[in-house]
Amino acid sequence: MSLKSSLLAVFTLGKGVVRGLPDADDDRHPIDLFGTWFSEAQKSGLLLPEAATLATCTNHAVPSARLVLLKDFDHNGFVFYTNYGSRKAAELEQNPRAALVFYWPVLQRQVRIEGGVTRVPQAQSEIYFHSRPRGSQIGAWASRQSDRLKDRRQLETRYRELEAKYQGDEIPLPNFWGGYRVDPHCIEFWQGRTNRLHDRLRFDLDGTTWASNRLYP
Ligand SMILES: Cc1cc2nc3c(=O)[nH]c(=O)nc-3n(C[C@H](O)[C@H](O)[C@H](O)COP(=O)(O)O)c2cc1C
Repeated sequence: MSLKSSLLAVFTLGKGVVRGLPDADDDRHPIDLFGTWFSEAQKSGLLLPEAATLATCTNHAVPSARLVLLKDFDHNGFVFYTNYGSRKAAELEQNPRAALVFYWPVLQRQVRIEGGVTRVPQAQSEIYFHSRPRGSQIGAWASRQSDRLKDRRQLETRYRELEAKYQGDEIPLPNFWGGYRVDPHCIEFWQGRTNRLHDRLRFDLDGTTWASNRLYP
């Protein structure tokens, strides 16, 4: 952690603990509230505020969870990118529902998101893929994410072969790689407070409008 991010973290620590949920009026759209909290997390000095735990579930109700990075969000949902051959992708194809959990410790805040999942249009994945560093683009081609790998050398050899293959050329979007969008029907904001009297505000989509309720901590 740099000195700047350490100072930011100290400055931010506990602000929400004192103020509670000041931004969360009942008529506030939960995506806009998420935007406010997310930009506060980005300014807080936290490493990777865009990291979220993604939970998926097979159609036999076996859950699994891992971290992903949020790359985009708006009123249509929350977007992350991955390998469409991975375990998470297999589970999402079987059961297109997911939960995302953000935790921003220095702000003592958690946000839980639940919703249906769809692949983002290929054109959108294409734009994001080409915005990534060249090494990450080659890395996406090199990885058969979640498959068994005999040894690390095999992965590195494959990376070098692909690097040579595409030298001087644009790297195409792999047909096994792209984004997913979580279209939320429930978003819960959690603010840590003293004596464990934490604030919880849950928004549920009711048709086209969001209904909000406070929950016991
Ligand atoms: C901080 C962090 C961010 C990550 N971001 C991503 C991501 O955006 N996309 C991704 O496919 N994997 C990401 N990973 C790796 C996943 O956690 C996971 O190991 C990988 O996607 C395979 O998961 P699966 O076998 O359940 O599909 C990230 C890991 C960490 C620790």
